Amino acid sequence: MTTEDKYMQRCLQLAQNGLGTTYPNPLVGSVIVSENDEIIGEGWHLKSGEPHAEVNAVRDAEKKGYDGDAFAKATIYVNLEPCSHTGKTPPCASMIVQKGFKKVVVGTLDPHDKVAGKGITIIEKAGIEVVVGILEKECNELNKRFFTFHRRQRPYVILKWAETSDGFIAPATKNEQQPVWITNKYSRQLSHQLRAEEDAILVGAKTVIDDNPSLTCRDWSGKNPTRVILDSRNSITSDYQVMDDAAPTLKLQLSSSNTLEILNSLYQNNVQSVIIEGGTTTIQSFIDTGLWDEAYQFMGTEVLFHEGLQAPVLKGDYSMLYRKMIANDVLKIYRKK
Ligand SMILES: NC(=O)c1ccc[n+]([C@@H]2O[C@H](COP(=O)([O-])OP(=O)(O)OC[C@H]3O[C@@H](n4cnc5c(N)ncnc54)[C@H](OP(=O)(O)O)[C@@H]3O)[C@@H](O)[C@H]2O)c1
Repeated sequence: MTTEDKYMQRCLQLAQNGLGTTYPNPLVGSVIVSENDEIIGEGWHLKSGEPHAEVNAVRDAEKKGYDGDAFAKATIYVNLEPCSHTGKTPPCASMIVQKGFKKVVVGTLDPHDKVAGKGITIIEKAGIEVVVGILEKECNELNKRFFTFHRRQRPYVILKWAETSDGFIAPATKNEQQPVWITNKYSRQLSHQLRAEEDAILVGAKTVIDDNPSLTCRDWSGKNPTRVILDSRNSITSDYQVMDDAAPTLKLQLSSSNTLEILNSLYQNNVQSVIIEGGTTTIQSFIDTGLWDEAYQFMGTEVLFHEGLQAPVLKGDYSMLYRKMIANDVLKIYRKK
């Protein structure tokens, strides 16, 4: 690992602190390294409207007593191109020029049309050395949601379901309007963590009618994602839990069952990532049209339904990223190629 890789790796670690809270902004971390190869400032972006990572790294260094003299000999690392436009905060590229850094090391360019190379141009024009493309693969992976949204004009799609070891996601009959739990409390907590990381959560109308779920991340800390219900018949009334004020709810009343149309509509609503949690009809429609990026398959090994609603079946070109045990449940995570 080169020195540049090492500090970019640190930027990526710091950036992760914003997972779930930066929407619609990307995950960004920054470190300032002195001429003696010491980190003198670190920062990350936490929330839209709040200071960007580079600003927080500069503030951290300044709090420790470093000033223009130190910056003139220092390198600032950042995993995404510094912004060039005034949004809710002033442009970071101009701030970097104004602070007089010796060198800037960037992980990846920003695909956002308001930036896209313009940040680098501002810095280079000021005579500051710029290096771009350090740990590019890892930087792309970290901001997979942001990049998918801007490059492919659709949200990043994660499928998630729980199935019994005999392959069902719901029993044939049930007496109460609530889910029949298949997995243990640890898996359920993990699935709430997954919800907190995404911008939106989507289910089909039948899941709301059968289970009356809340679709919140109540067993984890973090912001509840926007709830999206596919409800062409407008059958989800205000008395369902998804219509309470725990999070915004978007009912999509699309005439066709075209998944691309659903993702277009989410894109128009600025949804950068969505976790699709069921039921089988809904998840399978995304699998069948190839419009998914990752899938989380939880398997409860202690429940058998014998009959009921079959779990979704993955197809196409995909691979398993990993498999792990969560007490007696099995979690398999897949990535579409
Ligand atoms: N174990 C688990 O992880 C899990 C998770 C969630 C749900 N479930 C179970 O799943 C069962 C419901 O699953 P389900 O397959 O019967 O129904 P569902 O997927 O929840 O809902 C199906 C409905 O959603 C709408 N829809 C689905 N895909 C669409 C698309 N591509 N475009 C437009 N609309 C679309 C349609 O509603 P309209 O026809 O009204 O337009 C469709 O009838 C429930 O019993 C629930 O308990 C299990």
